[in-house]
Amino acid sequence: MSLTFKLNGNIKGLIFDLDGVIADTAHLHYKAWSKVGKRWGFHLSADQNEQLKGVSRADAMQKIAHWAGKNIPPKQLDYYAHEKNIYYLDYCEILGPKDILPGILNLIQLSQRAGLKLAVGSASKNAKLILEKLGIINLFQTVVDGNMVENSKPHPEVFLKAAESIKINPEHCVVFEDSQAGIQAALNAKMYAIGVGASELFNCHSQIQTFEQFNLLELLNQLNN
Ligand code: BG6
Ligand code: MG
Repeated sequence: MSLTFKLNGNIKGLIFDLDGVIADTAHLHYKAWSKVGKRWGFHLSADQNEQLKGVSRADAMQKIAHWAGKNIPPKQLDYYAHEKNIYYLDYCEILGPKDILPGILNLIQLSQRAGLKLAVGSASKNAKLILEKLGIINLFQTVVDGNMVENSKPHPEVFLKAAESIKINPEHCVVFEDSQAGIQAALNAKMYAIGVGASELFNCHSQIQTFEQFNLLELLNQLNN
C-alpha cells in the first residue's frame, strides 16, 4: 500500500536500517533465536521471525517466551537473550564486505555525490561492530544503535536521533527499512518510508525488493518537485 506523501522541502538525508537492509544478517538473528527456542522445544516459525525484525533483543526475547508459553523470570530471560547474542556473534564471525546487500555501495556513492547526509538507525546493539566488519562504518555521518535509545521501533526515537545527529529535519529524511516495526517508526517520525525486501510491508510509501532496483535520481525528482 502506498501513501500520498510530499516531503516538506528537498530530501537531505537518507537513514538506513542495518539488519536486512545494509547487511545480510537477518537470517543470522533468526538462526540464533531459533537455537534458543529449540532449547525449550519451541519452533520459531518464519512468520513469527518477521515479527521480531526491527525489535530490540529484550523485546524479542519476551515475545518468544510468550509464544513458547514459558513464564520465565526477567533475570533468566536476560540470560537467554545474552546467550542468543553469543550465538549471533559467533555466526557473525565470518561477516565481511561480501555480506553487504547488492546495490547499497552504489547508492551510497550516488548519495554522496548528490550531497545527501547518510545515517544508520538500527535497533541492534551490535550495529557498529557489524558495520566495522563490513568495512563501511566510515561512510555514514552517524550511527544510532540499540545502545543509544530507550524505546524500541515502532517508536520513532532511533530515527529522530539519527536525523538530529546529521542536523536534518525529519521531514527531509528518507528511511529504508525491512521490518514492519521500522516502517511504523519512520512514519511516526514523519519521514518518508521505503520498504526493502520481499516480505509484504504495510503502509510504506514505496517498496523495493533490492537496492539494485532502486533509482535515487528518480526518487529525488519525484519528491523534490
Ligand atoms: C534488529 C534486528 O536490527 O536488531 C532484530 O532486526 C534484532 O532481529 C535487533 O533482534 C536487536 O539486535 P541485537 O544485535 O542488539 O541483538
Ligand atoms: Mg532490519
